[in-house]
Amino acid sequence: MLKKSISMYKENILSELKNKNAIGTAGDKNTGFNCLTVSWGGIGVLWGKEVAFVFVRKSRYTYEFLEKSQSFTLSFLDDCYKDQVFYLGTHSGRVEDKVKNAGLSYTYDPDYDGAYIKEASYCFKMKKLYEISLPWEKLPKDIIEKFYKDGDEHTMFICEIKQFLVSEEYDELH
Ligand SMILES: Cc1cc2nc3c(=O)[nH]c(=O)nc-3n(C[C@H](O)[C@H](O)[C@H](O)COP(=O)(O)O)c2cc1C
Repeated sequence: MLKKSISMYKENILSELKNKNAIGTAGDKNTGFNCLTVSWGGIGVLWGKEVAFVFVRKSRYTYEFLEKSQSFTLSFLDDCYKDQVFYLGTHSGRVEDKVKNAGLSYTYDPDYDGAYIKEASYCFKMKKLYEISLPWEKLPKDIIEKFYKDGDEHTMFICEIKQFLVSEEYDELH
């Protein structure tokens, strides 16, 4: 992967997570790693830093790694990996090596504790800054009814984007 300045990031913020194939990987060399498909979140600026924020339910195995580690990456995969991305979003790392079973793999950089998906077109290497569980008492009733009937809360994780990486193929096309 090629290291780029975050100012080279040219994707559409609004559709980035919703329509793209985003995989969030949490953990480091001490905790080990786990990943999940994410589509709720965004990218922006906070405390003078470029950040990405994601919403992860407490039931996810990846949540445990987000709690234990500061390292979190977002890997964005091309549409040709849609099936693999769906696999990661419907199977838990608690019961299987799902990255291997999906036919994907982690890769690592010497300057960073976390991991990201080798097959990604581009990736954010990040450091967790802050997390907060969405406060039940402030959520609209219809949202609770629709999304939280089972009590499986979302926690928002805000992460600083430390590095923007792109694959050579992506770099040539953009
Ligand atoms: C398209 C798609 C988007 C998803 N987005 C999220 C999300 O934003 N937050 C979340 O907590 N789970 C999301 N999920 C569900 C997790 O990816 C899924 O529960 C996964 O199996 C959790 O794996 P884990 O237990 O190994 O962490 C999504 C699933 C799919 C298929």
